Amino acid sequence: MKAGILIQAIEAASTHVVRHPVLRKGRPLESCIFDGDELTSTLHLGAYLDEKLVGVLSAYEKQHPAFDEKNTYQVRGVAVLETHQTNGIGRLLMHSIERELSRKKVPLLWLNARLSAVPFYKNLGYKVEGGVFDLPLIGPHYCYYKTLP
Ligand SMILES: CC(C)(COP(=O)(O)OP(=O)(O)OC[C@H]1O[C@@H](n2cnc3c(N)ncnc32)[C@H](O)[C@@H]1OP(=O)(O)O)[C@@H](O)C(=O)NCCC(=O)NCCS
Repeated sequence: MKAGILIQAIEAASTHVVRHPVLRKGRPLESCIFDGDELTSTLHLGAYLDEKLVGVLSAYEKQHPAFDEKNTYQVRGVAVLETHQTNGIGRLLMHSIERELSRKKVPLLWLNARLSAVPFYKNLGYKVEGGVFDLPLIGPHYCYYKTLP
């Protein structure tokens, strides 16, 4: 893990500076606004290096039809600036949200992983649910999940 990374809660709008170049490149800035961003149950985490925001993720209280557990959360908008990828920042963000949700007694975390990110989630112990499906404008995805202690 890269030394000097600070993970902290951030406002929804603060995520855009990372979401836009990494996840919505070439699309309008409004494409960085996700449903549920402003709900009080939603969590946004930022990874700071030398006071610069270099990574973000968000977690939304949301059910998935495949899971019977109640009060599950969906993680979205996992992104690390291209210049800072493969330094352990994404892993740090995921571990932080897992800890935070576990503390809130959330039983299960799920997410829609783009194909290029599948090895990242597998590496973190996530299991696949179902087959590949298409998210409009983004491309093919798999649903991955983890049960929390
Ligand atoms: C996917 C992403 C968030 C991962 O963050 P990161 O900081 O680069 O990843 P980390 O350095 O924390 O990687 C943790 C582990 O996963 C592995 N990993 C990360 N991305 C990988 C990839 N695309 N393919 C294979 N392995 C990958 C790392 O090698 C590392 O493994 P190790 O423990 O064996 O060293 C980041 O690369 C990113 O923003 N990608 C573009 C946007 C994106 O795809 N977001 C996910 C949308 S579903």
